[in-house]
Amino acid sequence: PNVTYIESNGASHVIDVPLGENVMRGALYNNVDGIVGECGGGLSCATCHCYVDDAWADKVGTPTSQDEVDLLEGVSAERKPTSRLSCQIVMDASLDGLVVHLPESQY
Ligand code: FES
Repeated sequence: PNVTYIESNGASHVIDVPLGENVMRGALYNNVDGIVGECGGGLSCATCHCYVDDAWADKVGTPTSQDEVDLLEGVSAERKPTSRLSCQIVMDASLDGLVVHLPESQY
């Protein structure tokens, strides 16, 4: 399924992220700037912060664990209602076409 990553400078990248893979890795493996993913998806860094596009917010849903909620409180960029940790968004067929926006900085 395709994910469109839009960097804060407007650059966009359409990446085919395999089913079952998370949105953080899809960016990392394809050299998309704007996602760091320092902890490798272990829910301990918050450097994989992204903003789910408004059109996708309902489908992607809210944070899936209390750990994610807690980490989102510490993100360095502005936190928005659509903020998620991209390592916690796992691709399934229903997310084909997903659009995420990346913050200017992860630190
Ligand atoms: Fe560290 Fe997502 S990669 S919390």
